[in-house]
Amino acid sequence: MESLQHNLPRPWALSLAACAISIIAIARVFTPPAALRHLPKVPILPLLWSYFRGEVEDVRIKRLIVPFANERNEGVVLVYAFGRWIVHVLDHKIARDLSADIATWPKEVPPDDMLLWRFVGRTNVILANGKSWQRHSRVVKSALDRNVPIADFVGLGYKLFNVMGEGGRLLWDDLTMRFTLDAVGTTTFGHDFNAIADVNSPFVRKYNGVMDGIASPLYIIFPKLERWVPRPKVIAKIDEMVLLFTHLLEEKKQNAGNDMLTYMLEDPEMSDTEFRDNMVVFFIAGHDTTAGAMSSLVYYLARNPDMQVRAREEVLSAMGQKDPTLENMRQMPFTQACIREALRINTPITYMVPRSSPRPTLMSGSNGKTYALPANTSVILNICAIHYNDSYWPDPYQFNPERFFGKTEKDQTRVDASLWLPFALGPRQCPARNFAMYELRTLASMLLQRWEWTLPNDSPHSKAPQNGFSPFALSLPKNMDVVFKKRE
Ligand code: HEM
Ligand SMILES: *[C@@H]1O[C@H](CO)[C@@H](O)[C@H](O)[C@H]1NC(C)=O
Ligand SMILES: *[C@@H]1O[C@H](CO)[C@@H](O)[C@H](O)[C@H]1NC(C)=O
Repeated sequence: MESLQHNLPRPWALSLAACAISIIAIARVFTPPAALRHLPKVPILPLLWSYFRGEVEDVRIKRLIVPFANERNEGVVLVYAFGRWIVHVLDHKIARDLSADIATWPKEVPPDDMLLWRFVGRTNVILANGKSWQRHSRVVKSALDRNVPIADFVGLGYKLFNVMGEGGRLLWDDLTMRFTLDAVGTTTFGHDFNAIADVNSPFVRKYNGVMDGIASPLYIIFPKLERWVPRPKVIAKIDEMVLLFTHLLEEKKQNAGNDMLTYMLEDPEMSDTEFRDNMVVFFIAGHDTTAGAMSSLVYYLARNPDMQVRAREEVLSAMGQKDPTLENMRQMPFTQACIREALRINTPITYMVPRSSPRPTLMSGSNGKTYALPANTSVILNICAIHYNDSYWPDPYQFNPERFFGKTEKDQTRVDASLWLPFALGPRQCPARNFAMYELRTLASMLLQRWEWTLPNDSPHSKAPQNGFSPFALSLPKNMDVVFKKRE
């Protein structure tokens, strides 16, 4: 008895001490800095468990963040992610104030280590601030405003239908990705990546290789690993891809065309590096997002056959067997409302690039509360949370285009000015929203005209669209088969 008591406590004591020390260490890592502790904090354990399980961003927001904020009537919450505490804005008034004042709220300089920035570069419209951003933005906006390339979208629609052949069960999220990739290629670079027609398109393969490398979960959670355990293979792939864009740029300088890059090249102030970095931005910002929206739209019209029928009747009465045009697409308000509702209910960009103010700031919410933030706090505008606030959007899980439905386009924009945020808001909202909306409207009307579709019986998406895992705040349906039937 004696000897037992003597021997046992020691290892116990040791492991107890070790346990206590690790709990204190973990508690310190997971406790917000003193200057942020007054803000409501989303409980850490459920968050860690969610990251650990690889739960996708939009599900985590709807399951943990929105209910937490709603119970306490808070418009701003602290969320732990990737080694730091970030302030999420969930209140539309704060969202609007923050988006309007780009001088107080510049985009945060992203961490050096992330390979995404090696690919995207730093001298481009999406990351720049101040004078430099104004210069980029002017060039990008004037290129996008030249014309809406509807005829190009129609041409690509026919190419896509060719590949869809007689229909049947098709991997729809893959097809939308190929469509939007060729749409960006054709209209912005004047270059045919041939992604729709060629299933083995080398460009697509290379691009996917790069993105998969960049998005390795371990490196996303611990970006510092890029310094400690560098990945020469991934880096070589990225550099090769960047070189491809450099070649495209050289080619364009020799052969001007009717594309946005040609317009941009007319600006004498931009350097080659700036052109190239903006090309990569257009490429990344332009195709995944639009593809996700197209997948979600087709998904919700498959789940709601009566709405599919109603949209089809509207499309057929507006354009018959003809192609979509700027004019006849104006006669499709219900289809337009379906697209807008798809962009609300499964918004492709879950939250915006972090902002950070160099000065202490005050935020006043529509709940009457004011939140004080110290200088240099990372702040994220959480688009998905605002789209699921049931004070703005009754029955947020319900696909209901009627929310947007008005007799004219003007009615529709009046309903929701600062609550519908798929393209963000303020001076830094998406400069391509018109471009993207017409791309979606063109393909949607052509699909409704020629095809009918349903979800397969064994679809894993039968209850809700299942988005893929993405570290870049993208929520895009993944592995979504749809059964298409040609209309006579
Ligand atoms: C449905 C499709 C799209 C969605 C939902 C979308 C959404 C967004 C959002 C939310 C932002 C703001 C990001 C932030 O400030 O944190 C943004 C910015 C931007 N988007 Fe889009 N976008 C779409 C399509 C496109 C396309 C097709 C292009 C190019 C051809 C494009 C180019 C850009 C650029 C250049 C910016 C940066 C603007 C700036 O910082 O001044 N986007 N987009
Ligand atoms: C939802 O909207 C209401 C009304 O504007 C606001 O008071 C509340 O804070 C919002 N909820 C969240 C989670 O932001
Ligand atoms: C905020 O960040 C800037 C730039 O990194 C730095 O110069 C400044 O001292 C920081 N301010 C505070 C209060 O930490």
